Amino acid sequence: MTDTLSPADAPEFPMARAAGCPFDPPPALRALQQEGPLTKVRLWEGRTSWLVTTYAEQRAVLADPRVSADITRPGYPSPAPSSGGSLSFILMDDPEHARQRRMVQAAFTVRRVESMRPAVQKIVDDMIDDMLAGPKPVDLVEAFALPVPSLVICELLGVPYADHDFFQHSSKTIIRRTATPEQRAAAFGGLAQYLDGLVGKKLAEPGDDLLSRVAGRVSAGELTRQEAAQMGVLLLIAGHETTANMIALGTLALLQNPGQLALLRDTDDPKLVAGAVEELLRYLNITHNGRRRVALEDIEIAGQTIRAGEGIIMANDIGNRDPAVFPDPDELDIRRDARRHVAFGFGVHQCLGQPLARMELQVAYSTLYRRVPTLSLATDLDQIPFKHDGAVYGVYELPVTW
Ligand code: HEM
Repeated sequence: MTDTLSPADAPEFPMARAAGCPFDPPPALRALQQEGPLTKVRLWEGRTSWLVTTYAEQRAVLADPRVSADITRPGYPSPAPSSGGSLSFILMDDPEHARQRRMVQAAFTVRRVESMRPAVQKIVDDMIDDMLAGPKPVDLVEAFALPVPSLVICELLGVPYADHDFFQHSSKTIIRRTATPEQRAAAFGGLAQYLDGLVGKKLAEPGDDLLSRVAGRVSAGELTRQEAAQMGVLLLIAGHETTANMIALGTLALLQNPGQLALLRDTDDPKLVAGAVEELLRYLNITHNGRRRVALEDIEIAGQTIRAGEGIIMANDIGNRDPAVFPDPDELDIRRDARRHVAFGFGVHQCLGQPLARMELQVAYSTLYRRVPTLSLATDLDQIPFKHDGAVYGVYELPVTW
């Protein structure tokens, strides 16, 4: 009976990936999935949490109004010691979560995002021009994967891109599990103060950007200035870190699967490109620490009772490799229909920025390999530093040449 395990007997979470298999979830997670949908795991601070490994049960929990995303509730399975900072509505429950999310969701509709496609195409083309004009080999993370989504979210929010070194560094520290609480608190405090300053500027002189519209909510008495700054922190971090990691890790996965890369490079079918993006999201599932919740009431899942106050982690990386939903789940196959993946989560907290992320990835993948057809790794796979210690998986560096 997994629910009677003492903390000392429960396997530790997160688990390690196998050496040489940087794209696959940890083998121990696969073994747990084969045993059944639910088990108990031990967290960094010694407490246990439920771990849900199967796709259907993960979606059931994430859609259940009896679970909370509020990190301050006792029992919430925190990925790291608290730094005291608040990451806005991603860690709130309805109705306040929905109220705040609605304030910014118009900026992320498919139609609004599509209107940005030509501007994103220009950013991508300009970055590739610069890269091709410079020396090689080059680090693709620094030359392309990180600047593209950073420029896009800066433009959308109205954040000066000139400050990118500061906010990229702060974001990295905030999401690094191994950073000390003091380091994360300092990074969070610095970023919140920076966003507060920007909100102040937008209050005085509103522009045509999302942060100005958020500042307008402050003027209307609907948000405090602190809440507006925290929302800015969330949108700025979520808006660049995730997509940057998908661009770099996706490129590495394609370079390791040349047949798939050739299909994507040689097509002008936007449907195949869009399908490739969905499949790479499924296959790589960069939010590899799982979606985390705490039960508000007793909940029965797959014949097992999760008690009120117990933590629950939906390991969406292994959920996206559930053979009951995705045949041959460990194959990267850009022609499969992967749209049901849970890489953007599920339920009320499902990724707000997904239309933007999809569009950016479509433009980045469909342009980079076409314009640089001889793109190749400039080092061995085992020399590449992977982000095992972050809330978002990816590579720290990707040396490439052409
Ligand atoms: C490939 C890129 C991305 C991935 C894989 C990703 C993944 C996710 C996931 C898994 C969640 C759910 C969190 C949960 O259930 O606890 C989420 C939420 C969120 N994402 Fe993304 N994301 C990406 C890009 C973006 C972008 C570009 C933005 C733009 C600002 C963004 C903004 C957000 C926000 C605001 C939330 C919170 C939604 C809520 O709580 O209602 N994301 N994302």
